[in-house]
Amino acid sequence: MATRGQFGSRLGFILAAAGSAVGLGNIWGFPTQAASNGGAAFLLVYLVLAFALAYPILMAELILGRHAHGNSVVALTRIAESSSTKAIGALTGLAGILVASSILSFYSLVSGWMLGFTASYPLEALGFTKEAAWLTDFSLSRNVILMTLFSAMTVGIVMGGVQEGIERWSRRLMPTLIVTLILLVGYVFSLDGAAEGLKVYLIPDISKIWSADLILSALGSAFFSLSLGVGTMLIYGSYISDEEYLPSIGAQVALIDVGIAVLAGFLILPAMYVAAARGVEIFDASGRLLSEDTLIFTVLPELFATLGVIGLIVATAFFFLMSVAALTSSISMLEVPVAFLTERFSWSRARAATTAGICIALLSGVIALNFESLFGFVIAASTRYGQPMLGLMLCIYTGWIWRRDSLLGELKKNDPDVASGLFWKIWPWYLRLVCPLVIGTILWRSLA
Ligand code: TRP
Repeated sequence: MATRGQFGSRLGFILAAAGSAVGLGNIWGFPTQAASNGGAAFLLVYLVLAFALAYPILMAELILGRHAHGNSVVALTRIAESSSTKAIGALTGLAGILVASSILSFYSLVSGWMLGFTASYPLEALGFTKEAAWLTDFSLSRNVILMTLFSAMTVGIVMGGVQEGIERWSRRLMPTLIVTLILLVGYVFSLDGAAEGLKVYLIPDISKIWSADLILSALGSAFFSLSLGVGTMLIYGSYISDEEYLPSIGAQVALIDVGIAVLAGFLILPAMYVAAARGVEIFDASGRLLSEDTLIFTVLPELFATLGVIGLIVATAFFFLMSVAALTSSISMLEVPVAFLTERFSWSRARAATTAGICIALLSGVIALNFESLFGFVIAASTRYGQPMLGLMLCIYTGWIWRRDSLLGELKKNDPDVASGLFWKIWPWYLRLVCPLVIGTILWRSLA
């Protein structure tokens, strides 16, 4: 087997992992969910779940991956000792690859729309009205063509390898994303009505906090946002050098991810109320804030349209931001099957990336053809159920199946005193007991 790729530096890893984590889930999913779930109440629950539940599982993935320096199937079989736990571990790894691929299949459709909206504004300004309308109107041809374009970009980057592809592009795209986001927030804050949106975002409606639906949505959101369960973070962890101290690296990734979600909330919610101040309808018939696709593809474009020439620039910047965020995430999803194919069957990276990319694009095509019945179904099956279930398995494998001395040995590689530190005192127990219990309860409630 060829020598394995490795991230060139700590910053390179953090940007790549944060690039995976920061995606449509942060800039679209989180703010729109906050908008429809009581604003600050959702923010609060999300923050608690992200640090109390998602971070420990992120750590499990990073440590598992770095220990095995291999894909999720290798990682989960290596720590198991009996043949049955090895088999279940392998199945869990394979299921993760399947779920990662399903997530990518709907993700690249949505990301294609982002590309379309990004291009539509300059085209419209140049007088290509028909082309711009095609890019933004829902149609099978648009969905398939833009999805194919986005998938080709994803495959192109992944083909470049860990350092030359993933790390290099994350280093370019992540700073671009952060600067664009900050500029947009600053601009929206300067408009009338923004303060109203800030209030909704920052003053919690405590009565909503204990709603089971809100907690389930926030959990799903946190899992999705940190790319957990399917082996994305595990495979990125497998490319970290043995010299790095994982707990603080993981914490930085989680902080950036949560930070950007929260920052995106400072953009979207105020933008909605700015839109309202300009006469755009932001509530539905039952008085709830419009959210999800209506928010991104109707409310915001209507707002941009009221801003004249500046609106053109802001709109292009906004959808460009979405496209960049989507790309650094999609490469991390594609890396899951690609790592498996190159390591298990000794395929070249180019062959693995194109094959997996084409198969996933075909799946996206099937979804596009049966949009009404499949789109929502694939999203729910993979993110609402698949991810938490796989997350539960990871907790069980890291917490119960992996021998404690071997796990400790992995952490000792770069911190000989880790056994007396806070992380080792809390995390293993927490992962064994608290995480499975909470995920189990939430899953059970959602299935019941
Ligand atoms: N975290 C990304 C987002 O917020 C999406 C993502 C990347 C993802 N890799 C993943 C989601 C793996 C689930 C599983 O948009």
